[in-house]
Amino acid sequence: MNDRLLRAARRQPTDTTPVWLMRQAGRYLPEYRAIRGNIGFLDLCKNPDLAAEVTVQPITRLGVDAAIIFSDILIPVEAMGIELELGDKGPHFPNPVRTAADIERLGVPDPVQGTGFVAEAIRRTRRALNDSVPVIGFCGAPFTLAAYMVEGGGSKSYILIKRLLFEQPKLVHTLFEKLTSTLIPYLLMQVEAGASIVQIFDSWGGELSPWDYERFCIPYLTRMVQAVQAKGVPVIVFGTGMSNHLPLLKRTGADVIGQDWRTPIDEARRVLGPDVAVQGNLDPLHLFLPREELEQRVVDILRRAGPVGHIFNLGHGILPPTDPDAAKFMVDAVHKHGAALRQG
Ligand code: CP3
Repeated sequence: MNDRLLRAARRQPTDTTPVWLMRQAGRYLPEYRAIRGNIGFLDLCKNPDLAAEVTVQPITRLGVDAAIIFSDILIPVEAMGIELELGDKGPHFPNPVRTAADIERLGVPDPVQGTGFVAEAIRRTRRALNDSVPVIGFCGAPFTLAAYMVEGGGSKSYILIKRLLFEQPKLVHTLFEKLTSTLIPYLLMQVEAGASIVQIFDSWGGELSPWDYERFCIPYLTRMVQAVQAKGVPVIVFGTGMSNHLPLLKRTGADVIGQDWRTPIDEARRVLGPDVAVQGNLDPLHLFLPREELEQRVVDILRRAGPVGHIFNLGHGILPPTDPDAAKFMVDAVHKHGAALRQG
């Protein structure tokens, strides 16, 4: 197996820097759009054959060093018994969770019963890949998931979730407790099915002040990280707008901390110290730069991050209008300059 990614996550030496892209299976790929043309997004997530097929697409086309299982962070939330729609405007919960009774009604699903199709998709992906690259499992963090559940969908200001947090903290802890009790078995199911590393997305965690992040998020994240690590599997924690939360994220004990493009990656390293690996952090819009300039940005990140304990990635998901050839160019540039960096 190409185990560069797993070695980098553990800060072991590698021949070059491993690279994958958040949202690497998605609408920027014509072969994804061809499949998506005949099936809704949620139905695609729940069809293990097709989910495995789109998971493998970016490995074939881009030559990335890992496959991330095709699914969505909201899949286990739906299994808690709340209706989810995923339309053109993003996720939508027609009956948002806002009261004690709403939270009371949520179930803690058995992962195999509620979301066994994810495990099946992982098994089929591993077979299809013939174990050439590792499979990344994932889930959302309680705050990011709760933000969708309480707001009823995406949000700009996060007024409802933050008011709930401040006005009824006990209720929010009950909700986060239920989410954590759902997410830990969900992650362990993915590990059992063959995920060799796990990423926890706290995409909107940067909306909270460090003070609130410490009290409302870190305890739950820490439990999730430890539960996965107890199985011998490394964990990546990722969020956006979290440059000032890095010392807190380090406390979770995560093996790797993902960076968005706002933090110079050498600065992140300086704050985190030598015993944590970093992931990132090209601005997804840099894929629209002329090739020469894109290459310079790649080299700059590789130099800043150094050769040990760095997983190259975008600072957030790849965007639908991106040219797949630009993504391929970026992956090749990482491998080429990553190898050169090691030869001194
Ligand atoms: O990275 C991958 O290739 C694996 C698949 C994956 C998807 N969503 C597929 C998807 C992963 C890891 C996610 C995680 C996810 N989902 C996050 C965290 C990552 C991040 O971007 O911060 C979040 C916040 C969500 C919630 C979500 N799902 C949103 C906001 C949207 C709509 C926005 C959009 O891009 O359309 C989705 C839908 C979604 N999830 C799509 C894909 C490929 C697009 C669905 C389609 O095909 O129409």
